[in-house]
Amino acid sequence: MRRTRSPALATSLTLLALGIAQISSNAAWARTAQQADTLARQTLSQMTLAEKLDYIGGTGGWDVKPLPRFNLPQILGADGGLGLRYTNQGNDQGVVYPSGPSLAASFNLRRAVDFGRALGYDTASGGYYYITGPGMNMYRMPYGGRNFEYVSGEDPFLGASMAPAVINGIQSRGIWADAKHYAANDQETNRFTLDESIPERVLREITLPPFESAAKNGKVSLMMCSFQEVNGDHACESSHLIRDILKDQWGFAGFVQTDYGAIIDGLKAAQAGTDIDMLFGTQMNATVLTPSINSGVLSVATINDKVRRILRQIYLFDFDTYVPPTVHDTNSLASNQASLNVAREGIVLLKNQNNLLPLDPAAVKKIAVVGVLGKYAPPSGFGSAYASALDYISETSGLAQAAPQAQVTFLDGLSLDPAAVTWTHLDADGTTEVPGLTAEYFTNTDWSGTAATTRTDTYVNLNWDSDTNLPTDGNTASTSIRWTGRVTPTVSGEHVFKVRADGVIHLTVNGQQIINNGDGTPLPDNAIPPTIPQYAKITLQAGQAYDVVLEYSRRPSYIASLGGLTGVQMSWASLVAPSDIAGYDAVLVAAGNSNEYEGEGFDHMWELPEFQGQLIQSIASQNPHTIVALHGGTGLKVNDWVDQVGGLLHAFYPGQNGGQALAEILFGQVNPSAKLPISLERNLQDNPLYNYFPQFDNNGTLTQLSYAGDLLLGYRGYEKLGTTPLYPFGYGLSYTQFSYSNISVNPPVAFGNAPIRVSFNVTNTGQRAGAEVAELYVGQRNPRLTRPVKELKGFQKVLLQPGQSQRVTIELNGRSLAYYNPNRNAWVVDADVFTIGVGAASNDIRLRGRVLSPFRQQLSVTSSNPLPLAVQRAVQVTAGGQGPDQTDDVLFTQTQSTAPQVPPAAGSGGSAPGSAP
Ligand code: BGC
Repeated sequence: MRRTRSPALATSLTLLALGIAQISSNAAWARTAQQADTLARQTLSQMTLAEKLDYIGGTGGWDVKPLPRFNLPQILGADGGLGLRYTNQGNDQGVVYPSGPSLAASFNLRRAVDFGRALGYDTASGGYYYITGPGMNMYRMPYGGRNFEYVSGEDPFLGASMAPAVINGIQSRGIWADAKHYAANDQETNRFTLDESIPERVLREITLPPFESAAKNGKVSLMMCSFQEVNGDHACESSHLIRDILKDQWGFAGFVQTDYGAIIDGLKAAQAGTDIDMLFGTQMNATVLTPSINSGVLSVATINDKVRRILRQIYLFDFDTYVPPTVHDTNSLASNQASLNVAREGIVLLKNQNNLLPLDPAAVKKIAVVGVLGKYAPPSGFGSAYASALDYISETSGLAQAAPQAQVTFLDGLSLDPAAVTWTHLDADGTTEVPGLTAEYFTNTDWSGTAATTRTDTYVNLNWDSDTNLPTDGNTASTSIRWTGRVTPTVSGEHVFKVRADGVIHLTVNGQQIINNGDGTPLPDNAIPPTIPQYAKITLQAGQAYDVVLEYSRRPSYIASLGGLTGVQMSWASLVAPSDIAGYDAVLVAAGNSNEYEGEGFDHMWELPEFQGQLIQSIASQNPHTIVALHGGTGLKVNDWVDQVGGLLHAFYPGQNGGQALAEILFGQVNPSAKLPISLERNLQDNPLYNYFPQFDNNGTLTQLSYAGDLLLGYRGYEKLGTTPLYPFGYGLSYTQFSYSNISVNPPVAFGNAPIRVSFNVTNTGQRAGAEVAELYVGQRNPRLTRPVKELKGFQKVLLQPGQSQRVTIELNGRSLAYYNPNRNAWVVDADVFTIGVGAASNDIRLRGRVLSPFRQQLSVTSSNPLPLAVQRAVQVTAGGQGPDQTDDVLFTQTQSTAPQVPPAAGSGGSAPGSAP
């Protein structure tokens, strides 16, 4: 049932919405930067040095300290970039949005603004003054633990476009955004100890443009400096990154916040330009800094600048008079709609054998869904960006909703769901098979002596924090448990067993130990202890009962929040599809990663977990209408089965309404329009950075990482090396076709920052309405130094009815042609001919033009902009309308789709979002 709100609540929500609308429209009335600066200086002039030194350390949470003497409140902050998650202010969980790569895949700046506005609404209406996002680091290798958070994909121009659009959206709600992680937090491999060696050109051309654009085009209030080292300095202690580039050269007027605990040397960080030390100010405080101030090594002016920067943002956003709403509305219909719209435009159709898709509702009567990722809330990664959905539409319920005429069956026998597997054990006389497992709970850590309690458990699915019926208290006492049961497969062949636990696990099947994690997954020196599952496979025969024994011993310090688990779960499933799989008109396999495998603090495998590839092959070999929806923030290994499946989509992490979006795409209610923001490799070794980073390392061994190859990251490298990726950057299928014609370049000559307009026609030549992302690449004809064959420098998404044509204009500027010259500390456009390619993907250029740079030109690092003027305007909130949300310019639908729906299938794991604010 749709959850409805009482009239009284609806009224207060309306008032709240008005309040927030006022915050947003107040922008016109808000103080100018100069007024805010004056007020900041006034307050600063009255502060003692002790007060100032206290002010540049956090509260221990996400907050900036209050200054009651000046009537300044505690500035409450919240995580994270993909949804407001539970923070220190109580249970203010917000809408879960699609992952960063989903947004990047939309190639739609209006979606990015809309996303930011919705996330900003949730944050503001949750009572917070800022949110720690968006993340905008680069995708280098498919291991990247946090790439699911980042909006840049593998392209700095894409990141430089998306990041300020999200920021402007967030900040239009009258709160701060927080651009992170500055800089080069591109992998999680040993993030506290890794030193990245990044050549200056790589830094300027690849690593930094999203941040430059966040500063210049997003006017972002704060930036979070990252954990790892860049060229020998911790990022938060890097004068080059913070003082020289960010503040002096780009003119960043906000303040720099550390990632939480990222400073090692407080003096160095203070001198480098870091402004506030989160969480507690353990490094930048009076005790650490006073001796250096007294000795003259650190000036009071340096401290003043930090305080002034923070105060300036406070006054700029009127936080001195702002009263946050007390009635919270963090799961509004408008935000749900925004989340759904990003998912609709962010799922990339990669393969569509014989036009299997869209599925014909008249013909498809029986659909099977395989994979636990399709059963509950659409997955996401773990860590500070993990938000657990209050309401969601699963992929199974999305299908039931999109195809009410069809029977949608979730196949538990092929899915690893600890809450749905079948266990038995022999009853006391040892003759009769009864449901569940025998569970022996010990009050020691090694299963010794007699169990304190022996009982029957239906499943192994235990959570120390939330289960109320546990015989021992694993949170306070030492605990070990032994479960003994039996499984009787219905199919012969290999089966997978999976255990996820916060401790030691030994799993024996049929007398054979198949999982043993030693002394438990050792907790690394890391703030985010994950609970990454262990799994193994074994051959079993149908109809035969096998003994299973799981021994588990709890280890302390794991956390259940951030997508982790304090407890233990066990499941098993067949890797061989039953023969009746052939009887389904379509099989959707929800595969890939989730918060169990991918997240903060850790890099992850390229291979699919849980032998999913083997299962897909088994299904596809019997049913050609097998469609795989891939999940994760990165590329994953698909080469072993992709040729056998009928359809493949990269759904990334599609947010809490992603099940609806996916189903609408599968049934053609939404015509897919996303393009890959990353290249998907056929073999891992094909990745152009493979030789520099062949293997991730979460154990602290790898401490040096070279970025020497990063000018040729992603498609830049594939093209240079002549290697064909499996699916290239910018690639994505539609249910219609588009043609390109009639290119003109005006003027065809480059002069400084003057705009160059490239115009062309795009025509929908197919039978369905659809949106096309026209991509524009630039390459230099005769470069004297290493330059990619071509680089993305513009894109435009257009919605076209069948037969409709539109003239599209994409603007370029001097930076579109330039490379960074470290000797001049300037951007340089050589005297040369530059080729312009316009097309549907990086490997599908349809039109060519050229621009001449008649003489060598130099552009300032300060006044040049990674975005041409027209794009600078397009990333502003005002560009597409002033309404409470911007769904008016949704660009994806064939039939204008509706709001998130109520899933009709009982028990299929969805509930409807709340009503509109
Ligand atoms: C993460 C940040 C996050 C912060 C606060 C850190 O571990 O790197 O992205 O915002 O924690 O939770």
